[in-house]
Amino acid sequence: MIILNKAYISDFLVNTIINNKISVLENEYSKKYLPAQNIISKEDFNLTERKILNINGLERATVRVPEYSTVTTIEGIGTPQNLHPIQQAFITYGAVQCGFCSPGFIVSSYALLQKNPNPTREEIRDCFEKHRNICRCTGYKQIVDAVMAAAKVMRGEATMKDITYSKDEPIYGSSRPKPAALAKVCGICDYGDDVKLKMPPDTAHLAVVLSEVPHANIISIDSSEAEKMPGVYRVLLGKNVKGTNIIANPSNHPRSRGEGFNYNKVIADKKINKRGDIVAVVAADTEEHARAAAKAVKQNLEILPAYMNLLDAVTPDAIEIFEGIPNFHGMQPMIKGEDTRDVIDASDFVVEGSFYSQHEPHLPIEPDVMQAYWDSDGMMTIQCKAQAVGMTRFLISSAIGIPPDKIRIIINPTGGSFGYSVFSGTYAVIGGFLS
Ligand code: FES
Repeated sequence: MIILNKAYISDFLVNTIINNKISVLENEYSKKYLPAQNIISKEDFNLTERKILNINGLERATVRVPEYSTVTTIEGIGTPQNLHPIQQAFITYGAVQCGFCSPGFIVSSYALLQKNPNPTREEIRDCFEKHRNICRCTGYKQIVDAVMAAAKVMRGEATMKDITYSKDEPIYGSSRPKPAALAKVCGICDYGDDVKLKMPPDTAHLAVVLSEVPHANIISIDSSEAEKMPGVYRVLLGKNVKGTNIIANPSNHPRSRGEGFNYNKVIADKKINKRGDIVAVVAADTEEHARAAAKAVKQNLEILPAYMNLLDAVTPDAIEIFEGIPNFHGMQPMIKGEDTRDVIDASDFVVEGSFYSQHEPHLPIEPDVMQAYWDSDGMMTIQCKAQAVGMTRFLISSAIGIPPDKIRIIINPTGGSFGYSVFSGTYAVIGGFLS
């Protein structure tokens, strides 16, 4: 919620509020400087109840915010020219890697230090847990180190110089900041979703149609209704992908059975091998139109048995999930230390059971966001969070039928990535639309 304050009134702020249709709480300044359509009265806006605000055309929910609260975001804490000690400490103590989580951690730390200028490490961790701050790459030690160091500066027991990296220090053996750390601690680093906002206004938006069943033969995919829906440019099916429609990899393990990975379809055309396989992609003038049309794509499927664990998948009569590749795809014998059978036999207590973990091995905080276009050099350019840039070019090249020397991959700043972003299938989807 925005409350206009005399100290901040400027032509720029007033124009921004008007142009972006931002709602501002009624007070003497809002009434003086803004037209009525930008003003919400106190009565209309009981902040102690859940309210939906319309800011920049996006609906935001607010809850449990007392009336006339001051809301501080990362932009209100410090700027690149005038860093807050917490921001400086995050840079110097290596508390910023991908930086996707950093603004949240910094704002939580700021709030904590306002209330408790001398927290223990445990109190800092409790604060992060309470505010659900999660970091997937840095780990928490450096972050807690940074808050402890910033707190010292804020208490007057150290100076900004003490927590600022000096360029005179040697590169090796010192805490040289990451080049993008400054932008990341100030909340001005453009990740994929920010890059999206800078695309031209007539950019097409894609929405994927996903399989909701784990195992099926595709009889047909009917996109005729979706193609007629408002704003839809095109619906891409597997059979229309130019190229092999396959993200192929040679076998990377001598004990693998089969001849490598040649089964990952960019868009499933004959078979669904897992819940979440992409079966169609819709391009439309807006995200809302693309998503609405994606819901209208009909999947006519022959449902096959679902194998939800290893034992089901390797029973002798199980259907081969990937044609030509045994379901028991590979075995890695690992023998270390003592024979565990003897250890278990000699143990006082033995626990037996079946244990399952999540099926998703990597959980990056930022999901896939990507942009693609033909650039002025005639290169198909894909901006994404690929971890293996060179490999991605070659893997998607044959899948979408574009020579690798006509493909350019640009890595957007990435909110965590991990092995998840080595797989090139999603980048091939967007390239498939341009080919
Ligand atoms: S630095 Fe925290 S999620 Fe990447």
